[in-house]
Amino acid sequence: MPQIYAAKYLARAAAGVPRDMANAAIARFKPIHPTVLIYHCTFVCDARCEMCSNWKRGDRKSDMSLEEIEHTFDSPFWKYIENANVSGGEPTTRNDLVDICRVMLDRLPRLRKFGLNTTGLTPHRAIPMLTDIVKLCDERGIIFSFRVSIDGVEEMHNDVRNVPRGFEKAGETIRAMQALQKQYTFNFGISTTIFSQNLGDADNILNWARSEDLDIVFNMVRFTDTMLSNLDLADTCKPVGEEEEQMRQFFLDRVRIDPLLDGQNYIYMHYADMIANGYHRQAPCPFQTQGIMLNPDGGMFFCENSDVVGNVRDQDPGEIYFSDKSQAQRDHVINNECPSCLSPCQMNVSAIKQVVPYAKFLVRASREKRKYQQVTAAAESAVNP
Ligand SMILES: C[S@@+](CC[C@H](N)C(=O)[O-])C[C@H]1O[C@@H](n2cnc3c(N)ncnc32)[C@H](O)[C@@H]1O
Ligand code: SF4
Ligand code: SF4
Repeated sequence: MPQIYAAKYLARAAAGVPRDMANAAIARFKPIHPTVLIYHCTFVCDARCEMCSNWKRGDRKSDMSLEEIEHTFDSPFWKYIENANVSGGEPTTRNDLVDICRVMLDRLPRLRKFGLNTTGLTPHRAIPMLTDIVKLCDERGIIFSFRVSIDGVEEMHNDVRNVPRGFEKAGETIRAMQALQKQYTFNFGISTTIFSQNLGDADNILNWARSEDLDIVFNMVRFTDTMLSNLDLADTCKPVGEEEEQMRQFFLDRVRIDPLLDGQNYIYMHYADMIANGYHRQAPCPFQTQGIMLNPDGGMFFCENSDVVGNVRDQDPGEIYFSDKSQAQRDHVINNECPSCLSPCQMNVSAIKQVVPYAKFLVRASREKRKYQQVTAAAESAVNP
């Protein structure tokens, strides 16, 4: 079943390749409508994570109301969005989360893939909400991909998220979603953010996920003002020196050991490369030309390293996006932020559409695999000559 679902997604992505190539060519000369959207629907949160400060700025009163969200998505500006994600803060803290998702699903005519991140820490709210969103996507033939965040096994997770029994609570949501997968088809798994505190637990989390038959993706810790409000945490959370090398090896091992076509390996290679080369980005990013983000209060910005360029409560999103002032901010991001940016946001979506970078990755990943196989074979023959 998951293979059929993945094939369906790849087929849809492949069908869009000619249009994507035309878009990429046009975007070199003039701004184009966005195709990728991340909407942080609230910063209110049910955790107090060590590596993210969104929970500190949660303020229900400043969140856009459902009415304002409907009004925002009524604009024709969104007509080319193919990939939309809801994040936060914790989306399930909003009583109207299912309605927000319905508005997005119904007003984004080109939507192919819908995503969501959740703590899963409040199962009695999360389970019914996620079940309803699964059904909405199923009825509309839209691919739904979502993950519960797990940053360690047992106490490590509780400590990172500062939630007593957090691992147990998130586990309840995870098991309910695994059961729902027997009835509906959707992409589901867990997501782990690796930083100095839980780096030593990374293999443990990986083994636990495998034992539970859970798809897992690892994020490397990042620091951004507009998206995570955590620039001040770099000193305490960023692995440095030996820890940084340990993290690089962890990501490289994924490329060497995990199947070549594992969707995440392209991103893991990007992390390992960036650590090795002193943080010079070589990978493409869809946000440079066709991404957009919305914050809970309606603030609109181009990506996690962009300033807010306007507010959709005051102005049509298209007017904000295409204005000279906004485009100057995008140029500023491209010239000053992209060269050292770690962000993997939607990178694997763009990867399969960008033939040359992906082909280069496949060659390099195969080389890494061969090296690893030679080293392990030599070690085995030394033990059993
Ligand atoms: C900001 S959270 C919002 C959704 C939800 N509250 C959650 O934790 O899943 C979205 C994702 O960002 C990850 N994240 C948090 N802090 C991060 C950081 N400093 N660097 C990279 N990713 C981070 C979380 O682990 C989660 O998978
Ligand atoms: S990572 Fe998610 S759960 Fe943790 S503080 Fe940030 S928004 Fe909240
Ligand atoms: S700064 Fe990062 S997220 Fe923003 S467009 Fe550049 S590479 Fe993408």
